[in-house]
Amino acid sequence: MPEKEEDQAMIDQVTRSAKYAQLAGTLVSRITHEEAKKYKRKQDIIQSTRTRLHQLTGAYLAPKIDYTQWLHNFKSLSLNDELGLKATSLSMMRLHASTYERIEVLPTFFQTSLAPISPVKSVLDLACGLNPLSIPWMPLADAFTYFASDVVAPLVNFLAHYFELFAYNAKASILDLSYCIPSQPVQLALLMKTLPLMEQIEHGLSQKIIENLNAEHILATYPLRSLGGRKKGMEETYRSQFDQLVAGRAWKIQEFSFPNEVAYLITK
Ligand SMILES: C[S@@+](CC[C@H](N)C(=O)[O-])C[C@H]1O[C@@H](n2cnc3c(N)ncnc32)[C@H](O)[C@@H]1O
Repeated sequence: MPEKEEDQAMIDQVTRSAKYAQLAGTLVSRITHEEAKKYKRKQDIIQSTRTRLHQLTGAYLAPKIDYTQWLHNFKSLSLNDELGLKATSLSMMRLHASTYERIEVLPTFFQTSLAPISPVKSVLDLACGLNPLSIPWMPLADAFTYFASDVVAPLVNFLAHYFELFAYNAKASILDLSYCIPSQPVQLALLMKTLPLMEQIEHGLSQKIIENLNAEHILATYPLRSLGGRKKGMEETYRSQFDQLVAGRAWKIQEFSFPNEVAYLITK
């Protein structure tokens, strides 16, 4: 079989499992092509592709999330029930490791790190996970716009319905950041706990993303603990990665430290 057809056959095998069929096709094919160069045996290529895709996506999410039920939970809240909305949002945020780790500091996280630019009028939340559920805790302008994207289709579909339900001026779309860097102008881009993953996909990708985003400000954050919960010197590693990322740039950088996460507000 010619190389391209062979790779396509591999991609078909990888996506035979629903879990991988629901990911952005560009990411699946990119990782499959890369793994096909590393291994000879088909089974090894498929296994290794699935492992990498899992590390980038599924590892963060609880298995088998019933998005229809969650949407129903939000729908059944009465109008103006702010406490109910926050309680339901917090429960759902527990299903994604990144938002789960932020719950404890959520009341101050965005209020502190976005204070210098609030009220925020437009947000581009990239590799968003369930972070858009934090909107009630963000210092946003009355008429804000919000664009959220990720590579996991069921999650993105849920967010689209969630935005519609609350009549936000917001959009959710599938976007593989390693394939396409959005160019729309925004006041704030969120790259939360995302840059280490982009470096895993391609060395130097974080730099490309930060340079090319058409955002006045970027809030880039790094985790201070691994998925397994250990700290393992992550702070020093990521601090030095970030320092290299912005070295020699005339950008204003403001740093905000939280127990599990460090945030940098970059103003271009
Ligand atoms: C560490 S989590 C961060 C989630 C969210 N930003 C937060 O901090 O709550 C990384 C997210 O990136 C998404 N992701 C992985 N690869 C991606 C890619 N190539 N493009 C866009 N999103 C990606 C995953 O599905 C996951 O939701």
